[in-house]
Amino acid sequence: MGCCQPIDKVTAIVEQYKGEKGALIPVLHAVQKELGYLPKDALETIAAGLNIPASEVYGTTTFYTLFSTKEKAENIIRVCESGPCHVSGYQKVLEAIKEELNIEVGEATEDKKFYLEMTACLGVCAEAPAIMINDKTYVNLTPEKVKALLASF
Ligand code: FES
Repeated sequence: MGCCQPIDKVTAIVEQYKGEKGALIPVLHAVQKELGYLPKDALETIAAGLNIPASEVYGTTTFYTLFSTKEKAENIIRVCESGPCHVSGYQKVLEAIKEELNIEVGEATEDKKFYLEMTACLGVCAEAPAIMINDKTYVNLTPEKVKALLASF
């Protein structure tokens, strides 16, 4: 099953960008998208593949908050806490998620299935309250709807 090991995916991504100027950031983005985070061995593979010092790769991941070197969970839930979501009752939705998954903000469930964090406006204020799970946005939520949504994962 060599083709499907995570590190082979990293190598394939590196191959795609190799030789391009400023390849590091797009490679880090692509690898994080693929693996959900940036493990140490992936960073080493990227450094070797792009022929840049590992220290530079590590430095870049810590500089940009968008990159995560720790595995959070299989599914990342982001609850919008900006103005319109705030006034339309995001708090109740957040409480429902916490209750359903038995976690607080900044925590992952024991089985590492979900990780919960807050976010700023998701750009769908007209349909607040909204949350994002991985790269999909869910709108007009109620505690009941969000519980059903979590159960569907
Ligand atoms: Fe929540 Fe804009 S304020 S989506």
